[in-house]
Amino acid sequence: MGHDLVIVANRLPVDRVTTPSGETTWRRSPGGLVAAIEPVMRTHGGGVWIGWPGGTDQDMEPFEDDGLSLVPMAMTEQEIEEYYEGFSNGTLWPLYHDVVAKPEFHREWWDAYQSVNKRFAEKAAELAAKNATVWVHDYQLQLVPQYLRDLRPDLKIGFYLHIPFPPGELFQQLPWRRQILEGLLGADLVGFQLPGAAQNFVRLVRQRVGHKTHRDLVYLPDGRSVRAAAFPISIDAAGFEELAQSDAVTDRAKAIREALGNPTKVFLGIDRLDYTKGIYARLRAYSELIRDGHFDVEDAVFVQVAVPSREQVEQYRILRDEIDRLVGRINGDLGRIGRPAISYLHTSYPREEMAALYRAADIMVVTPYRDGMNLVAKEYVACRVEEDGALVLSEFAGAADELRQAWLVNPYDINGMKAALLEAYEAEPKEVTRRMRAMRKTIAQNDVKAWASSFMTELEDVSGVEHQKTVR
Ligand code: G6P
Repeated sequence: MGHDLVIVANRLPVDRVTTPSGETTWRRSPGGLVAAIEPVMRTHGGGVWIGWPGGTDQDMEPFEDDGLSLVPMAMTEQEIEEYYEGFSNGTLWPLYHDVVAKPEFHREWWDAYQSVNKRFAEKAAELAAKNATVWVHDYQLQLVPQYLRDLRPDLKIGFYLHIPFPPGELFQQLPWRRQILEGLLGADLVGFQLPGAAQNFVRLVRQRVGHKTHRDLVYLPDGRSVRAAAFPISIDAAGFEELAQSDAVTDRAKAIREALGNPTKVFLGIDRLDYTKGIYARLRAYSELIRDGHFDVEDAVFVQVAVPSREQVEQYRILRDEIDRLVGRINGDLGRIGRPAISYLHTSYPREEMAALYRAADIMVVTPYRDGMNLVAKEYVACRVEEDGALVLSEFAGAADELRQAWLVNPYDINGMKAALLEAYEAEPKEVTRRMRAMRKTIAQNDVKAWASSFMTELEDVSGVEHQKTVR
């Protein structure tokens, strides 16, 4: 007997890591995708999650982790190199993020992408019950919907892209643009973070594949239709709020401020160490405010947490070196004994520590050049239970569409960023609270449960219409 709900994502919620001493342990996987889907799976009993557990282990059995049914997909070293580091993160990731870094196109990466996608589709076909729902996630698996439909036309197939979908001018660089569009069209519903992304997709389908479209619908020659729409993703707002209010987190937040020397203001950045996140420019802007004499290292500190990510990919290694050098230089030039300008941490933290950091920070700085949504910005808002705290947010993060009361910045404009950081630093508490209160309302109304259920409802509707058509 199969499962009624199958989640297909490149990653499982847990990642198998080998410590320097050779032991293997599990840790929570990085990134927004896992953070969003995990609570959905928890509320839906009976579902199963297919994904890569990290590493190259070839014969791992399905297992339960903390109540979730997980099915590990093995990956060879060559597949990791060509499908994951290569096509997913060396081609698609930079291409879909406005070409912030130069995408590379290699035919053998594309071959690996196809064969891994095929394998994920076969596994989903094997595990899904009759008429089940399969929800495929993100840019690593854009061919799965079509492969899966060929194998199992009875299934309801949803696809959700967690990252931006680029405008045609950029997407068209891709030598395999048509195959990717056709892969996605295997789904009944294709979800995006923002309406603009859904429009980009529909327009490209019309131009490149030649299908008829009307508004958010694509009509396929076989009579099927596919809907493309925006479903802005969110967080478990109530869960974060509760965690942030707990005694342990409240005490830890105080301890963090003390350890930092109880400065007047604590700035905070938390990002995967990724070139799309704009960490370098943000730290430069901040250091110039100190250099220009607006405040001192005794008054303020910038805590930057950089979560290790994709460390085998060259552009990520280069970025790490650049940030290391910049932080060293800033602290060397501006710091005093026991008072660095930037407190830099290259590590990942559990949710509790993140919540404590959010509560300890007066000003949260989120300045990506391009970001699908950015859940860190939303988590910060959810954790500000006292309705204070300023958010400085890039216009180019999906979250900026909803969090209009943030101090919005263009991350390419260093002087603009300096001005916004300073404004947030000097803002009257009343003004900070007015903005935070409005943002907290938005987040409380649109949490991750609402996101998942609106996607699921829509999927039922689209494939329901479809079913009636074929029956008639
Ligand atoms: C982003 C992507 C996810 C990805 C995560 C972490 O949030 O949208 O698909 O899982 O980054 O990246 P990684 O390459 O470590 O899975």
